[in-house]
Amino acid sequence: MAVERTLTILKPDCVRKNLIGEVTKRIQEAGFKIVAMKMTKLTEDTAGGFYAVHKERPFFGELVEFMSSGPCVPMILEKENAIADFRELIGATNPEEADEGTIRADFADSVGENIVHGSDSVENGKIEANYFFAESEVVANKA
Ligand code: PPS
Repeated sequence: MAVERTLTILKPDCVRKNLIGEVTKRIQEAGFKIVAMKMTKLTEDTAGGFYAVHKERPFFGELVEFMSSGPCVPMILEKENAIADFRELIGATNPEEADEGTIRADFADSVGENIVHGSDSVENGKIEANYFFAESEVVANKA
């Protein structure tokens, strides 16, 4: 299987609930290498740009407001089959539909406040990684 990269964001609800450590531990224990990571607070413009593909959807305003409501932690993760494996680890977008033991089933409150983002394809993973990180901020993690 090919080594892939995915972009995740530990969302503002994850940070507010003091779950950065717990969620990062689960990610690392599942075999993902963190190759870039930062804490940042998105502006409405930055959040809106990231989710621009959803701008016509009825929840767009709510999504932008939430994502810019406090600090978040974007990371680039590397692993074989990273895109699909990460989406399996976090569970369905709606935590009520997420499999038992997934990050969203365990920690998320709603389809909007759902703790983590994960890229949905290798191509979008690259676009999303470039949205948050310059090439100089991405390091090889051989550990
Ligand atoms: S997915 O995974 O892209 O198919 O999910 P989707 O349902 O299309 O949702 C895309 C992102 O929008 C967020 N979302 C919402 N935010 C606020 N309110 C409502 N009702 C809502 N519904 C969906 C959802 O958390 C997804 O965020 P990401 O970061 O992509 O997981």
